[in-house]
Amino acid sequence: MLLNTLAVSLLLPLSQALRSSGNGVLAEPEMAPKRVAIIGAGAAGSSAAYHLSQSAQDAGIPTQIHVFERSSHIGGRCTTVHAWSDPKQPVELGASIFVEVNHILVSASKTFNLTTAAHELEKPREGTPELGVWNGKEFVFISSGDNGWWDLAKLLWRYGYSPIKTNGLMKSTVARFLKMYEKPLFPWSSLSEAVQEAGLLEVTGVTGEQFLKEKGVSDKFATEIVQASTRVNYAQNLGLIHGLETMVCMAANGAMSITGGNWQIFSRMLHSSSAISTHLNTTIAQISKQPDNTYNLTTSSGEVSTFDDIVLAAPLQSSSLVIEPQPKHTPDQIPYVKLHVTLFASPFKLDPAAFGMKDGSEVPQYVLTTLPPSESHGSDPNGCGSPGFFSVSIVGNGVNPLLPEPRPEIVYKIFSPHRINSTFLSNILGRKVTDDEAEDGDPNGAVSWIYHKVWHSYPYEFPRVTFDEIKLDEGLWYTSGIESFISTMETSALMGKNVAQLIVDEWTSAGEPEPKQDGETLKVQGDDAAWQFKPLDNAQGQQKPLKAKL
Ligand SMILES: Cc1cc2nc3c(=O)[nH]c(=O)nc-3n(C[C@H](O)[C@H](O)[C@H](O)COP(=O)(O)OP(=O)(O)OC[C@H]3O[C@@H](n4cnc5c(N)ncnc54)[C@H](O)[C@@H]3O)c2cc1C
Ligand SMILES: *[C@@H]1O[C@H](CO)[C@@H](O)[C@H](O)[C@H]1NC(C)=O
Ligand SMILES: *[C@@H]1O[C@H](CO)[C@@H](O)[C@H](O)[C@H]1NC(C)=O
Ligand SMILES: *[C@@H]1O[C@H](CO)[C@@H](O)[C@H](O)[C@H]1NC(C)=O
Ligand SMILES: *[C@@H]1O[C@H](CO)[C@@H](O)[C@H](O)[C@H]1NC(C)=O
Repeated sequence: MLLNTLAVSLLLPLSQALRSSGNGVLAEPEMAPKRVAIIGAGAAGSSAAYHLSQSAQDAGIPTQIHVFERSSHIGGRCTTVHAWSDPKQPVELGASIFVEVNHILVSASKTFNLTTAAHELEKPREGTPELGVWNGKEFVFISSGDNGWWDLAKLLWRYGYSPIKTNGLMKSTVARFLKMYEKPLFPWSSLSEAVQEAGLLEVTGVTGEQFLKEKGVSDKFATEIVQASTRVNYAQNLGLIHGLETMVCMAANGAMSITGGNWQIFSRMLHSSSAISTHLNTTIAQISKQPDNTYNLTTSSGEVSTFDDIVLAAPLQSSSLVIEPQPKHTPDQIPYVKLHVTLFASPFKLDPAAFGMKDGSEVPQYVLTTLPPSESHGSDPNGCGSPGFFSVSIVGNGVNPLLPEPRPEIVYKIFSPHRINSTFLSNILGRKVTDDEAEDGDPNGAVSWIYHKVWHSYPYEFPRVTFDEIKLDEGLWYTSGIESFISTMETSALMGKNVAQLIVDEWTSAGEPEPKQDGETLKVQGDDAAWQFKPLDNAQGQQKPLKAKL
């Protein structure tokens, strides 16, 4: 206490002296901090706050960054729940894995000393096949998981060169994407232009099915392996999802997650600087532009505060926000997948009979699905087809602490287009699950714990060649347009970082004015141009005219 007082009394006269000019008149006051509001504390908003505080500091610009989040947690669609409500047993409810090439997430986990675990896919339980692809009638593919080489040999025997071709396509696509992290492309003020300059339009403009066919990948491999991956990752089939998101699904090298929950990355980002204040349980209801180009933000409880820049880091359509006056650009309303995620625990293994397997066989740890040949151009509106679910997987082994004698159990995750009920659970476990167990679990039952969640998980990734604007108006920025390009934690974080850099560049006037000539349309490279504009049955209304400018 004494020391503090002493320090203050010594330092105060000094700082006053520094601020006064020679003739006793106060010099110009220090630069007022830039006030920035970020709406949403998911991957995009947290990354925007983190990178903004860093870049602004590097540029010598003081900032006050306020992050507003309507829910009670940081992370958005990246969040955990606890099996049996036991805080020691967290399970990912949303985004569960990221990969080696996800530079922002990987580097943040290192900076924050977070422990990463290789995703469970790499260590199946003893004797259990790792992964199988079920088409509602039979397993079309089962990998042993015992021996990488043997699995590869099986793939080559069944699919010829298609796996190798697909791997090559994936690598070149990733290499193009990584250009978006670096100068001269980064930061990009237009996503449409950046995608074009990275050479990715030919991949986003067509369906996965068209892309793979064009590149000589066999239908069999596309349907049985690649589509199993687009279904587990995006709940979409190859005839709908665009080529780029299809390639993202195949880029699974070095899959990992943060021990205890991926949301910790975003929490650490928000706690990294005293310039950032986070307001949980705070819904923004209105953004209004003032005559002096600042913005008033109004919370749902009526509090108003004023900011120089606003970053909207959530899909506008689900944010219940009013923006007035209407900004220069209003993001499109886009369809999102309505995905049911069910987590549950049981002492029982999956019943081989439910999957047409012989008694005594082991059901694979990851049951992915695809459409049977008869449904390849299925009429099922949610695309799920006769399997009835997108995936059932074992996400961990846990201990049920609710019994007098704690019981080792298996924790499962199901992705499906409908709510999971007792009929479904009784079938896959091969024993009676009551309605009550299927709704709420019963500590001593076949389902001891269950958690039902419906997400608007990601957009239907229809082929497209233009993307939402990033700068909706002067001082008003939007991150979620990137989800129609790629919807992952990393790409949202990348967009957050990109917006942060665009803002600092404007403040320092380092942002190059974009010399754009009207009327000049985008040129499409290569001979793929012809099929980029083919109207796609399932992409009606999504394929916008090419309007990006060079
Ligand atoms: C089941 C599931 C599995 C997935 N699996 C993976 C995976 O394995 N790997 C991967 O990389 N990605 C995965 N994803 C996708 C990934 O979760 C998202 O792409 C990413 O988390 C989106 O981050 P975001 O910050 O853009 O949006 P969000 O995470 O949605 O964040 C937006 C935030 O804004 C808040 N908000 C909205 N409106 C307001 C308002 N008016 N006022 C205040 N706050 C508001 C919301 O509450 C939310 O927290 C998965 C998604 C789901 C649902
Ligand atoms: C947010 O609300 C939840 C539920 O109402 C509450 O448990 C939590 O403490 C609140 N958090 C903050 C930071 O206000
Ligand atoms: C992470 O660990 C390193 C070495 O142990 C340490 O120097 C660093 O300060 C830690 N960083 C954080 C954010 O805890
Ligand atoms: C914006 O907020 C300021 C400060 O709270 C207030 O004086 C002003 O009237 C507000 N403007 C509008 C249009 O509500
Ligand atoms: C249970 O779910 C299945 C789909 O998995 C559905 O066909 C069935 O009608 C549902 N049963 C009840 C009673 O809702």
